[in-house]
Amino acid sequence: MLSFEERLPEGPGRSGSPSRTADIVDGVASQHRRIRVDDKRVINGGTDVNQLVPFKYKWAWDKYLASCANHWMPQEINMNRDIALWKDPAGLTGDERRLVKRNLGFFVTADSLAANNIVLGTYRHISAPECRQYLLRQAFEEAIHTHAYQYIVESLGLDEGEVFNAYHEIPSIREKDEFLIPFIDTLTDPAFRTGTPEADQKLLKSLIVFACLMEGLFFYAGFVQILALGRQNKMTGAAEQYQYILRDESMHCNFGIDLINQIKLENPNLWTAEFRGELTQLFARAVELEYRYAEDTMPRGVLGLNASMFKEYLRFVCNRRCQQIGLDPLFPAATNPFPWMSEMIDLKKEKNFFETRVIEYQTGGALSWD
Ligand SMILES: [Fe+2]
Ligand SMILES: [Fe+2]
Repeated sequence: MLSFEERLPEGPGRSGSPSRTADIVDGVASQHRRIRVDDKRVINGGTDVNQLVPFKYKWAWDKYLASCANHWMPQEINMNRDIALWKDPAGLTGDERRLVKRNLGFFVTADSLAANNIVLGTYRHISAPECRQYLLRQAFEEAIHTHAYQYIVESLGLDEGEVFNAYHEIPSIREKDEFLIPFIDTLTDPAFRTGTPEADQKLLKSLIVFACLMEGLFFYAGFVQILALGRQNKMTGAAEQYQYILRDESMHCNFGIDLINQIKLENPNLWTAEFRGELTQLFARAVELEYRYAEDTMPRGVLGLNASMFKEYLRFVCNRRCQQIGLDPLFPAATNPFPWMSEMIDLKKEKNFFETRVIEYQTGGALSWD
């Protein structure tokens, strides 16, 4: 009969394990030494991934708890005002309608890509159970986000075929996805294994693209667009959904950055000058693609926003992501043209911007933000 460990699939916590050496625990001979905090690693760890404690990565566990305290569901948000506005021929301009449809066109499939990346990719390669616990919560939140976008599409009676196929049919959306997909494919390839410097750099690069460029850059321009509509008292239901999504995504992005920095700390050999150079090129390319998408979504400027403000915002956000993982900022002179976005990110349910109904799931203390 197979032992418990032998029945586990191949993956982190299975090879070179310090816990597999013979030991005496509580006077009983055991083949499995109890887990020591010092043995845990974020990648290529040898400790049993099924044992959440003892905690080593408390930041991951804290983010898991904070995310659970932020739980919300799309159908709690009243969409009646949005529906009335969308049906009213004079309710929104043609440019505003284009912006809403293009915006949803990116997001309706983006969060499914994000979920696949976590469930079929990242999760397998992470050997710290605290981080895996957070990733499970994050995966569920990505499902909630896809649900929210679908709920908006359904509420407004939009052409589902048009919105859900935008990532095939709209070049500025397709180019963003084409940029992301090779990095998702790396992690989701069943044959991909970490454990060599080359493979570990591949993993790290994909994690950086996912957290800093997909969740941390591509998403933010889209959030600004819908939140700007909400600030003008238009599409307030959709804007409230986006506010909750933004709050979740800020957490995803912060978790991803902590994960990246922890991997760097444990594997300093990966952070070579050549590797940093490759990353810088990817950041520059992502800003370019997102700017093209902003121009395509708002060809004439809309809501007091225009593409050049977005260019500045993207440069500002890009600098921030670079600094968060220890790269030099690409655009040192960039400033934030949308300071109100910071308030949105710091949303707490008790001071809900749009003052619509909120179900309170939180049972613990106040939220804290990095
Ligand atoms: Fe999401
Ligand atoms: Fe996310």
